[in-house]
Amino acid sequence: MATSLKPISLPPSTNRFNQYLPIHRCQSLIRCCTSLKTLKITSEPQPVFDSLRSFAPATVANLGPGFDFLGCAVDGVGDYVTLSIDPNVQPGEIQISSINGIGNCSSKLSKDPLWNCAGIAAISVMKMLGIKSVGLSLSLEKGLPLGSGLGSSAASAAAAAIAVNELFGGKLEISDLVLAGLDSEAKVSGYHADNIAPAIMGGFVLIQNYSPLNLVRLPFPGDKDLFFVLVNPEFEAPTKKMRAVLPTEITMKEHIWNSSQAGALVAGILQGDLEALGLALSSDKIVEPNRAPLIPGMVGVKKAAMDAGAFGCTISGAGPTAVAITDSEERGKQIGQKMVEAFMTQGNLKASAVVSSLDRVGARVVTSTPR
Ligand code: HSE
Repeated sequence: MATSLKPISLPPSTNRFNQYLPIHRCQSLIRCCTSLKTLKITSEPQPVFDSLRSFAPATVANLGPGFDFLGCAVDGVGDYVTLSIDPNVQPGEIQISSINGIGNCSSKLSKDPLWNCAGIAAISVMKMLGIKSVGLSLSLEKGLPLGSGLGSSAASAAAAAIAVNELFGGKLEISDLVLAGLDSEAKVSGYHADNIAPAIMGGFVLIQNYSPLNLVRLPFPGDKDLFFVLVNPEFEAPTKKMRAVLPTEITMKEHIWNSSQAGALVAGILQGDLEALGLALSSDKIVEPNRAPLIPGMVGVKKAAMDAGAFGCTISGAGPTAVAITDSEERGKQIGQKMVEAFMTQGNLKASAVVSSLDRVGARVVTSTPR
């Protein structure tokens, strides 16, 4: 199947960025808050690499009641960017030289950097750094299907943002890279950071505020097992369309219910309590009930996951991927099989399943050629 997810295995990160990311780039372990106003880039940084290759993982946004403010990165699937200094490109500009990968992405995605997620994020980072003296060439390799609910656009943007920043010595703060990615997300799917923030930072991230951007890392205990069963049907659910069906007003009762579930979700993450996490993840009464009917079979898929022993199940991001959580890889495969079957029997959709764990690293450089 052309669009089915294929897990990949990555070499260890060679990225300086992620090695010092949790402490040096943030004021504390869990809070990461700054704005461009605090940036002090006084002169144009020089490139430290001729070229490099970066990776950014898939992300699960919303996690049920965390609509637009909570997301996490999952390992094993994502997008790659290769970025090079290119003397044939006008100084200060970027060209997209190739787009390859899963499905028919090369025909669907624009090579105009102003209309491509990776291009938009790369241009934003170049502007923040004040790059004027060299031109860049970018190749995008998609491992994530478009419109899948796995943060496909954010993975491209995150890989591009970190690639440009690292090529010039990693001068920017995490939140600046998230802002660059947000420029891209705003253009293609809407102004929400629950994919781009975890794609860049790894782990679970809560967006407390957008202006100024205030990102809160939610550390999941390192000694607890957590597996995500990601079941992607052959069906596209464009984020813009899936946002258009959401209510613009909710009742006080719904607000109280979803807020308390979101609180429980955060507690479940911090405590590594999968039962609590799963219960909260499954409990959204505002977004999921409006979107599920647009994804053929989703209601039955959720039931199949729960019947097969998942701790919880919901729509990943704007869908159509369904995400369930469990504590064992083997059980994850069994749950995935039941969910794939349910997509076929209940929704007449072919689907593929992968079992991933939490990606705690986020966007990273995987290979580089020093200047
Ligand atoms: N929070 C966004 C939404 C994520 O659900 O619309 C989109 O991937």
